[in-house]
Amino acid sequence: MTGKFNFDLFGAVALTAVLVVSTTSLHAQSIEEKTQVCAGCHGVDGKPADKTIPVIWGQQAGYIYIELRDFKRGDRKSDIMQPIASSMERDDMQAIAEYFSKKSWPDLGQPRASKEISDRASNANRSIGCTGCHLDQFQGDGTIPRLAGQSKEYLTKTMGDFRTRARGNNPGMSDLMIATAPDDLAALSEYLSGL
Ligand code: HEC
Ligand code: HEC
Repeated sequence: MTGKFNFDLFGAVALTAVLVVSTTSLHAQSIEEKTQVCAGCHGVDGKPADKTIPVIWGQQAGYIYIELRDFKRGDRKSDIMQPIASSMERDDMQAIAEYFSKKSWPDLGQPRASKEISDRASNANRSIGCTGCHLDQFQGDGTIPRLAGQSKEYLTKTMGDFRTRARGNNPGMSDLMIATAPDDLAALSEYLSGL
């Protein structure tokens, strides 16, 4: 009796284990499951949980892919994003990049810059030529990121990181940021966030 009972119990446990494993691996293949963790910081509605976390909803797919790749390689350092990207394969990164690029960019409700700040930002753009790469509306394309409407605090942080080369994954952007005066960078952050 006891032996039979144990056999059934074992059978039930084994069956449950098989079900759990197969459900988990099925879920692991769904993009929703893979991107669930992202929402905790980048926002369930695309609005990041903190101002220093970038918007990724509606960002250019090519750019998202490059960043995930660079976080994984360690070319772009981040104690938070490196461990997350390190478990991703190239196919995952591409699928995740596509997934987020198709969402619509959230309105963070950041104010438009004053005329004085906008003029200062436009002059800096004229001398450095940001729009030559980031395009007229700062909407980006392919591997060039959208900057329009990005979080002001994040823009300030990441341009500062390029400047000190703490963000070292694009030496060309670092050179441009070093060539731009700190006051102009502050004006650009304010201007871009309000677009
Ligand atoms: C614990 C919070 C957290 C989680 C979870 C998280 N991120 Fe991030 N992510 C950040 C922070 C903070 C940064 C900015 C890093 C920096 O520049 O120092 C960032 C940066 C990024 C960037 C670069 C964006 C840009 O404009 O350069 C991408 C792409 C990104 N994350 C994608 C993802 C994806 C995809 C997931 C889920 C698989 C994810 N993140 C999960 C906090 C998080
Ligand atoms: C020669 C082309 C080029 C020019 C000119 C240029 N950028 Fe960029 N920028 C890039 C590329 C490419 C990246 C993505 C780098 C990477 O892969 O991480 C980038 C990234 C950025 C980022 C990071 C965005 C994010 O989500 O983390 C900011 C901010 C930025 N650029 C601002 C500017 C500003 C402001 C100017 C003008 C003063 C400018 N760029 C001029 C090519 C350019």
